[in-house]
Amino acid sequence: MKPLCVVIRTLLLPVLLPWPSSGQFHVIGPSAPINALVGEEAVLSCHLDPMMDAQNMEVRWYRNHPSGLVHRYGASWEHMEQQMPEYQGRTEFLKENITKGQAALRIHPIRPFDEGVYSCLFEKSTYNSEAQFEMFVTGSGVSPRIHIQPGNTREVKLTCTSTGWYPEPEVQWKDLQGQHLAPDFETKTKDKNGLFDVETFLTMDKSSREGVSCHIRNPILNVEKEVYISVSD
Ligand SMILES: *[C@@H]1O[C@H](CO)[C@@H](O)[C@H](O)[C@H]1NC(C)=O
Repeated sequence: MKPLCVVIRTLLLPVLLPWPSSGQFHVIGPSAPINALVGEEAVLSCHLDPMMDAQNMEVRWYRNHPSGLVHRYGASWEHMEQQMPEYQGRTEFLKENITKGQAALRIHPIRPFDEGVYSCLFEKSTYNSEAQFEMFVTGSGVSPRIHIQPGNTREVKLTCTSTGWYPEPEVQWKDLQGQHLAPDFETKTKDKNGLFDVETFLTMDKSSREGVSCHIRNPILNVEKEVYISVSD
């Protein structure tokens, strides 16, 4: 008799118990794309709807494809073997609100590389849900500098340089009246961190005795840095 009793109890238990933890959920990501600044931090926050404790869930942030792991957190331990090498040492899981179903990932310092489409995925046993969102990266570089080299007797050659811009900045020479001056040529090169360095060259007539300015502008941030120089004998 007794063994049968145990069997019946075992069979009935899952049926009789309320089963709230099988409840499904949605993941809500940032409501707008994240705009991050090079060198600063970005916080990628996601939460569960309805609100529920996510302490025992696995949470993953990935980039473009699940194999592009940015950070992974699972039931109070973090296993990062498959983390993309580009993110190593730059991510921190913020779990202070995890019992309320909120998880946030801090990335610091931001690099141009970080621009892209991210997903955060919450997984509980066999059920999972994810949210996708975009992050844009911008950076304003250092103030430009102008170098002067003598050209032939009538001319001076000006070189304006600035580093550390993202995305590609707009570069402009202007005279005192604000008229654009066409450069001899200009170059924009990417450094190893993906930031743009610019160089622009202008030849001026010495007799003009005019001042000129060099402007570098980040069109997304609407930030412009400029330098002015007066050209005289
Ligand atoms: C946790 O919640 C509090 C209160 O809503 C909020 O101020 C704080 O920024 C949250 N922390 C994280 C890491 O999201």
